[in-house]
Amino acid sequence: MTHGTFISFEGIDGAGKSTHIARVADVFRAQGRAVVQTREPGGTPLAEKLRALVLHEPMDALTEALLMFAARREHLVQVIEPALARGDVVLCDRFTDATFAYQGGGRGFDWQVLTLLERMVQALPDGGVRQPDLTVWFDLDPQIAAQRLASARLPDKFESQPADFFAAVRAAYARRKQEMPGRFARIDAAQSIDAVGADVARVLDAWRHRGAA
Ligand code: TMP
Repeated sequence: MTHGTFISFEGIDGAGKSTHIARVADVFRAQGRAVVQTREPGGTPLAEKLRALVLHEPMDALTEALLMFAARREHLVQVIEPALARGDVVLCDRFTDATFAYQGGGRGFDWQVLTLLERMVQALPDGGVRQPDLTVWFDLDPQIAAQRLASARLPDKFESQPADFFAAVRAAYARRKQEMPGRFARIDAAQSIDAVGADVARVLDAWRHRGAA
């Protein structure tokens, strides 16, 4: 079976992922690869409806975690797995690490329950669990992120959380990196856009030279 390339992009709100995801897409397209650029929660019509609910409606922490995984299941089945089977590059703005970071770290939801849901939702036919091949983590001090967001669009439910919520989200990303060091690359997102872009390019080069893409 052909196997594409699955890259996720993570970080607290305000870390500035979007510009860089678009650039990475251009790099792969220039190499002749088909690129699927997508996001979570979302990526299918149903998952986008769930996104609108989780980002704007108040709800219980378990409901929130289940909706994130419900949207992810749809996204995997409808978009991500078919793209990987075709050999495409899937660039995903957030994936399961965000659930561990926001629902696990930010909301304090049980890490083991999230691990169980992850295994169920991302189960592969061979008994494995689907994970990104590479996760680019834009790490940023929550104080700097808050300053950046202050001048941005109207905040959603998560963006309007206080700084200590984002400190917990950041710590949970660090925990995920520690648990799965092989696929995580940390970028210092406090740098200028150009310096961050250069680091992203370096991370991709280093990863390719490991023979991964
Ligand atoms: P975005 O603004 O980067 O598209 O992300 C949407 C928001 O949803 C962001 O604040 C992070 C949050 N989120 C979770 O809380 N859990 C998740 O599993 C995902 C994918 C996103």
